[in-house]
Amino acid sequence: MTTRPSEDFLAQLRERILFLRESGVVALNRAEGLQPIPSPLAPARDYPAQSDPLPIADPEGALEELRAEIGDCTRCRLCEKRTRLVFGTGNPRARVMFVGEGPGYEEDRQGLPFVGKAGQLLNRIIRAMGMTREEVYIANVVKCRPPDNRTPLPDETAVCSEFLREQISIIRPQVIAALGSVAVGTLLQTSTSISRLRGEFRTLADGTPVMPTFHPAYLLRNPEKKKEVWEDMKIILDFLARNPRV
Ligand code: URA
Ligand code: URA
Repeated sequence: MTTRPSEDFLAQLRERILFLRESGVVALNRAEGLQPIPSPLAPARDYPAQSDPLPIADPEGALEELRAEIGDCTRCRLCEKRTRLVFGTGNPRARVMFVGEGPGYEEDRQGLPFVGKAGQLLNRIIRAMGMTREEVYIANVVKCRPPDNRTPLPDETAVCSEFLREQISIIRPQVIAALGSVAVGTLLQTSTSISRLRGEFRTLADGTPVMPTFHPAYLLRNPEKKKEVWEDMKIILDFLARNPRV
């Protein structure tokens, strides 16, 4: 008798195949199609060294403290129009952290990051990577929705990204996926375009590897770019496979 694959495994496989098909992939090799996480790519890439792995003792508590410190924030003008502050969600010990720009309409209503259309696509990317939203951490550069979804202004990102930096230093992810130009520009302090930066790791000052990639909302308008995002996610998976967390 053969064992039936679990529903979860099949769901993940479906997501991965769907996303790959949208990414323009026409054929799968067995390893890529069937393993929960792709086996390491050869040849080895020039990856950044792992940063100091010393985790903080109680990241759950530290995140709660940080959330309390932010409070009913009025540090910038975005507080005037927001409904709910969107702190971030996921695993306080995540190996991978996804950083977006700021809440949109749905996120502002629900108080959760990436729950609108772009969020649905991000969920599929995460599933295609063999992961779940619960196991990664998802946050934004600004925690309050900019009116009419405008791009956050430099003074807004400057004030609010301090909290993002604290989230990163509490969670200590092994890698960060920076989604879109605001996340990339804020984390890496650069105005270089994503097209030029993506495809290889950059690093934060503390050595944390950052993969710049396109924002899911950009992918909704430019679906042909999904292929590149998947290339970037494979590099992340390869890095994780080579650097098991001890
Ligand atoms: N876009 C973002 O950058 N972040 C969200 O949380 C939702 C959409
Ligand atoms: N420009 C952006 O702002 N975001 C992207 O994802 C790509 C280009």
